[in-house]
Amino acid sequence: MNQPVMGGVAALNVPAYVKQEKLVSWVAEIAALTTPDSVYWCDGSQEEYDRLCALMVAGGTMKRLNAAKRPNSYLACSDPSDVARVEDRTFICSAKKEEAGPTNNWTDPAEMRATMHGLFEGCMKGRVLYVVPFSMGPLGSPIAHIGVELSDSPYVAVNMRIMTRMGRAVYDVLGTDGEFVPCVHTVGAPLAKGEKDVPWPCNPTKYIVHYPETREIWSFGSGYGGNALLGKKCFALRIASNMGREQGWLAEHMLILGVESPAGKKHYVAAAFPSACGKTNFAMLVPPKSFGGWKVTTIGDDIAWIKPGADGRLYAINPEAGYFGVAPGTNTQTNPNCMASMERDTIFTNVALTDDGDVWWEGLTKIAPDHLIDWQGKDWTPAIAQETGRKAAHPNSRFTVAAIQNPVIDSAWDDPAGVPLSAFIFGGRRSTTVPLVTEARNWVEGVYMAATMGSETTAAATGKQGVVRRDPFAMLPFIGYNMSDYFQHWLQMGKKIAASPAELPKIFCVNWFRTDADGKFVWPGFSDNMRVLKWMIDRIEGNAGGVENLFGTTPRFGDLMWEGSDFSQEQFEQITSIDKAAWIEEVKLHTELFEKLQHHLPAELVLAKAQLEKRLAA
Ligand code: GTP
Ligand code: SPV
Ligand code: MN
Repeated sequence: MNQPVMGGVAALNVPAYVKQEKLVSWVAEIAALTTPDSVYWCDGSQEEYDRLCALMVAGGTMKRLNAAKRPNSYLACSDPSDVARVEDRTFICSAKKEEAGPTNNWTDPAEMRATMHGLFEGCMKGRVLYVVPFSMGPLGSPIAHIGVELSDSPYVAVNMRIMTRMGRAVYDVLGTDGEFVPCVHTVGAPLAKGEKDVPWPCNPTKYIVHYPETREIWSFGSGYGGNALLGKKCFALRIASNMGREQGWLAEHMLILGVESPAGKKHYVAAAFPSACGKTNFAMLVPPKSFGGWKVTTIGDDIAWIKPGADGRLYAINPEAGYFGVAPGTNTQTNPNCMASMERDTIFTNVALTDDGDVWWEGLTKIAPDHLIDWQGKDWTPAIAQETGRKAAHPNSRFTVAAIQNPVIDSAWDDPAGVPLSAFIFGGRRSTTVPLVTEARNWVEGVYMAATMGSETTAAATGKQGVVRRDPFAMLPFIGYNMSDYFQHWLQMGKKIAASPAELPKIFCVNWFRTDADGKFVWPGFSDNMRVLKWMIDRIEGNAGGVENLFGTTPRFGDLMWEGSDFSQEQFEQITSIDKAAWIEEVKLHTELFEKLQHHLPAELVLAKAQLEKRLAA
């Protein structure tokens, strides 16, 4: 197997079960361009997963964790330069610049193709080209879409097996002429003959490139997360948002959860928070003890595909099959379900290693271990941390785990029909200004709130952290076309539902992250977010009060359920107060955003802003 043939071109080794000529000739074309030593077709089996992990352990990419403490689990530590998404190196190469819009990097597709061709020439020398077939959404379901990622990273292959439905069965769905999104990925680090590999090969030059018209993805130079696992942000958001726009559905950066009352009434809601702003945690929420009988279950933690059903309602599916979640801050108090999910069969990336072969990260335990090997392989002690401020785990360190390991996975989590949505929630990370929760009075007001949402930047992307930026719909880094056209698409979806017998989902805005004078979070968050979620459900059911303010409806202290909490009315005022002066400044930032998005900006949103300004001036 895998023997080179004459002329130095790797044998294709096409398995007999691959029946599609178009796919085979594309693999041949990419192999000829990238010149790997061999081509390997992933079948998605456990045996293959174990073998690739063992290969990476031998090569130093991964460490096997203590099997008694963390069975079948691994730690991978990346190159210190390759730790997060690279938004400034992400491109939407539509035929016309205005199609990508002012929020995306754009290069003429012909020019980009030439650049990519140059970079990819010989880029897999000395490596294996892995053919990774995957389905976003349940295999063979009418709402699923297939992709094939060609990558020279075994780390990508094993992560894709957890994150997607990956393997041989995909070829049965593909058949002789099924469609797939071609995804080409390289770490961009060819090996000369006899050259020893490094644990985490990558390239200082990075390109994450999308061609929306032809639905292709090309990624160069990074092995990390959203840059390399191309089914996730590149396909399920940037390419899929283009599909959704064309076909009348939505691809969103949203968790989906089910919430069931003690009476057995169940609602599903979808929530968009920017990267590292609480989706995984909200999706796995454990209600406070005082909420006896309330249950929260997970459909998805990062991406939602949402389509109108025959009854006019919106139905959501989670196109993924696993979670690539933020490690720091996760512990048995804040997210016990998440901790239970990663007890075994987990890949950890860029967390710290304990002396007994387990993992640790900031926030896992109140007291840090006496000694660790940090994510960069250096000795770490609490004293060193105090002195240097060095973190044991990278702030964007993550775990990769199969969705089925989540103890509160919803029974409908992989139902191809999806689940009907009762509400959308939008939320940013704001230390000031934005109150705990607001309900939009109508669809347009909700779209306006989502469109103008601001959030402090996090470690999920390279660049400055803690800077407030506009992140419309939590989609700033993920929209695959013009942002203003995307707003229009949302307004259009609202009109469609309004014209149907179905009720429009309610739209809410939340902020868990207001801080006090010492910079401490005032709101306890996590399981206490159930108090806010319950208010929303009660509002949907017409059972809860609230007052109208400048831009929507907010609860008074007494409108929330406080049993089992010592959160005071005074603290509540602290995180729900609406400071007019601050909002005048905030709306200036809306104006700035709208100026940038002027081309195709929907008139309804301009009007919504004018009305808000009028109320502020009154
Ligand atoms: P991506 O995977 O990057 O899209 O992120 P995410 O939105 O799923 O974020 P996640 O739930 O992983 O949370 C990111 C960080 O925010 C973690 O450190 C959490 O502990 C913290 N966090 C989540 N929910 C809350 C909350 O309610 N309050 C506070 N204070 N922190 C929270
Ligand atoms: C995010 O950044 O929103 C993530 C992590 O979910 S990554 O897959 O790296 O994009
Ligand atoms: Mn995300």
